[in-house]
Amino acid sequence: MPRNERIDSDLVVVGAGAAGLYSALTAASLGASVTVISATPLAQTASYWAQGGLAAALGADDSPELHLADTERAGRGLVRRSAAEVLVNEAPEMIGRLQEIRMRFDADSSGDLALGLEGGHSRRRIVHAGGSSTGRRLARQLSAALVREPKVTILEGARASNLWTEDGRVVGVVCEDDRAVRARATVIATGGAAALWNRTTNPPGSIGIGIMLARSAGAAVADLEFVQFHPTAVVGVPGREGFLISEAIRGEGATLVGPDGERFVDELAPRDEVAREIWAMLDQHAVESVGLDMTSVDAERFPNINDALMQAGIDPSKELIPVAPAAHYLMGGVVSDLNGATTVAGLYVIGESACSGLHGANRLASNSLSECIVFGARAARSALDEPTVSSGEPPSSVPLQLPSRETREAMWRNAGLVRDRSGLEQLLEDPYPLAALVARCALAREESRGAHWRSDFPSLDSGLDSMHAVISGTDPAFEHWQ
Ligand code: SIN
Repeated sequence: MPRNERIDSDLVVVGAGAAGLYSALTAASLGASVTVISATPLAQTASYWAQGGLAAALGADDSPELHLADTERAGRGLVRRSAAEVLVNEAPEMIGRLQEIRMRFDADSSGDLALGLEGGHSRRRIVHAGGSSTGRRLARQLSAALVREPKVTILEGARASNLWTEDGRVVGVVCEDDRAVRARATVIATGGAAALWNRTTNPPGSIGIGIMLARSAGAAVADLEFVQFHPTAVVGVPGREGFLISEAIRGEGATLVGPDGERFVDELAPRDEVAREIWAMLDQHAVESVGLDMTSVDAERFPNINDALMQAGIDPSKELIPVAPAAHYLMGGVVSDLNGATTVAGLYVIGESACSGLHGANRLASNSLSECIVFGARAARSALDEPTVSSGEPPSSVPLQLPSRETREAMWRNAGLVRDRSGLEQLLEDPYPLAALVARCALAREESRGAHWRSDFPSLDSGLDSMHAVISGTDPAFEHWQ
């Protein structure tokens, strides 16, 4: 499409990870015209990198109620129950929907879905594809289904620069090269912001672009103090820094050992707990890694992890893997209701960019890909009920701001696993606006809960149960969500 060209669609989706692709597919299957804007090639979306699977209560010994209880326990008193109920009730059916578009999940020896276990789950309920290649296979399958849809336009390599608003309503998106898409509704699905932290499991593009786009159109954001640190990312191995070793491997029996070779943590406790125990061990012994022992696990079942480690010179069937926590997932994001609607008319948000309250203070493993599918579908259906929009002229594009290396280092130093007031205050003047917003939320929450650990407020304040730090203007205000 030439510069300055305009496209009219029913829906425009920004981002082509699992949430964006599934939302676009749902809208297209309802007969809508859809434009998908994708800045990066597929292989750089966080979904494509995802090693975990999709959590759904499918086992004979499982139920949505048990899945809900685990989600709430992991979320440490901050899970919005209505959002979690949507997820646990709709996830099992969504697995069936994905199978209908020829997504093949791993099966056990009887041909039934193989259900994996991960931290914080009381039952086996994670479906995988290709072991730890679930995200890659899901992204491929969804893109293959999407390109078969005649009313879908995909703008690959296009970067959304700003939202097009008229009379307080979002009516489309302007790309960096001044191409514009006008639509009844705009869906932000650009992923999270964990790459804003120097040590991360995420692709470099996970810097909160969608969150900033939505905020500049006036949308409220919330819970930005809650970034999840994954316990087991490779450390000290050149070329593999931050490479994720899936929790599914601990689900199959891998253990964590300290410098003395002894186990020190329940490897299948919720992620915030395991990450903090590792952090304490690193601090106590002044070392940079603990050992992940997967010698008892059949590494061939996790081919991409096995291959990556072997290429880096580590044989996981014989050696310990050096691991330490790394920023992995933002629980906060753009405030959204149960259909992905934001506080601005015409604007929706799904996947990691969204904050519906589903994950509370600490996301339960593998709930996120399920969220992408469940809420991606709901947002598409709801967005198509928006009215058709007027025909004014789009604004000019605005240059995108990127975080510097100094910002990313400062985020790791001052908003890492353990933070305090003086460190957080240093982020308030950071030139990357999202860094300062994270600091404002983290300063407002004067307690320790889930992924947010304040050394100067080490206890949980039960007065903040179900209270979410929402920023509509400059400073956060606590709101009670149910
Ligand atoms: C993992 O496989 O450990 C990551 C999956 C997730 O983040 O839920």
